[in-house]
Amino acid sequence: MAKQNGLGNICRIQYEKYFSKLARRTKSSVLRDAAEASELKNKIIMSGGYPSPEIFPIISSQLTLRDGTVLKIDEESQKDSLQYCSTWGMDDLRQWLKDFQKKIHNPPSVGEDKHPGEMELMITAGSQDGISTGFQMLIDEGDSVIVQNPTYPSVFSMVERLGGSTVGIDSDKHGIIPSKMRTLLENWEISNPVNKNAPRPKVLYCIPTGENPRSASWSFERRQAVYQICREFNLLIMEDDPYYFTYFNRPLPRSMLSIDEDGRVLRFDTFSKVLGPGLRIGYLTGPRPLVGKLMLLYQTSTSLACPFSQVIIMTLLREWGVEGFIQQCDRTAQFLKEQADYLLLTANTYLSDVAEWEAPNAGMFLWMKMKGFEDTRGLVKRCKEEGLLLIEGVYAIPGGTMSPYIRIAFAIASKQQMIEACKILAKVSKELRGIPEN
Ligand SMILES: Cc1ncc(COP(=O)(O)O)c(C=O)c1O
Repeated sequence: MAKQNGLGNICRIQYEKYFSKLARRTKSSVLRDAAEASELKNKIIMSGGYPSPEIFPIISSQLTLRDGTVLKIDEESQKDSLQYCSTWGMDDLRQWLKDFQKKIHNPPSVGEDKHPGEMELMITAGSQDGISTGFQMLIDEGDSVIVQNPTYPSVFSMVERLGGSTVGIDSDKHGIIPSKMRTLLENWEISNPVNKNAPRPKVLYCIPTGENPRSASWSFERRQAVYQICREFNLLIMEDDPYYFTYFNRPLPRSMLSIDEDGRVLRFDTFSKVLGPGLRIGYLTGPRPLVGKLMLLYQTSTSLACPFSQVIIMTLLREWGVEGFIQQCDRTAQFLKEQADYLLLTANTYLSDVAEWEAPNAGMFLWMKMKGFEDTRGLVKRCKEEGLLLIEGVYAIPGGTMSPYIRIAFAIASKQQMIEACKILAKVSKELRGIPEN
């Protein structure tokens, strides 16, 4: 992948300008700093409040994999897994992930040692915790965040609890529509939807691959066009990409991180969708000044991501290598594609006269428009009474008051359940619209 002429072409970003008041006030924690691995090496540790491993009841463990392989967590690793670790994450996993990010995304800042936004990586307790801390770092009361419409509903509460608001830009199956984003930003002072004095947005939050809830993925041209607009209007980009490896086809799309000349992308990855959300491990990649500040905020909140989970993941990755991990991701994508295909087939049979939809190309959801409904809250309520749980589209719309869409998750339902679900949905939607069943 060709890198541009690094320092020559970048927009220099003054990162401090983007920090919230909270982020500016946050200082490093003496106790957390004392937990850095480099501080501890070859020293007599009488600093932190480390419990003695002598009292840890688990001294080793083993993992049995689906293919029958048994992996042992030895006594040394087990001790580490039950102890505090650095807020950045455990050294070996962090290094593995840094190399992995370089291999997969090769951000333009890598290898440019004077690049002000040189790539840095930190391990988080799932990606949501990282994203939420990211908003704390960037958003003050009155600030706005640009999001795609529709988007991941949890983001609204993450931003609103800080006193900020989200402004939606319509998207189609190729991603955010760049002309709409440009029009909004060009006319911000006269016609923004927040209020007359609202400051210009500093941040775009986006899910470029397998968007939740639409499960569409942005084309490369859209990614480039949106990046260019962010450049012109000085926006940082929070790239939340939990469904990246679930993309149904290969090769995988180019990420926003991979085209980030300037160091304006904070990318959030997670093991949730490919290894298991119970591990609660994600990783955040981006320019060192931003990741470093986020780490300071993390020192005083989550403190560190579960070391036991980090050891489990490192044990798996040592066994698998990059290739084995990619195979696990490929298996996940294949599984989800088969689930999606079956749901589409079933929907075609039972729902074609009451709904319309576009086939997902990644992720876990079918975003379905219900014909004859302005809002689906009543429909979803009735489906629940019939034993079928769905999500009302309105919750994915920034500032939304109604939506004719529903979100159907297809990852865990069996084939039989998909048939049942489509039958219930067809029956209930006809009933509410007064259409006799044939
Ligand atoms: C778009 C999006 N971002 C973030 C998350 C949170 O993932 P994690 O389990 O890594 O916190 C999810 C989970 O469903 C998601 O859909």
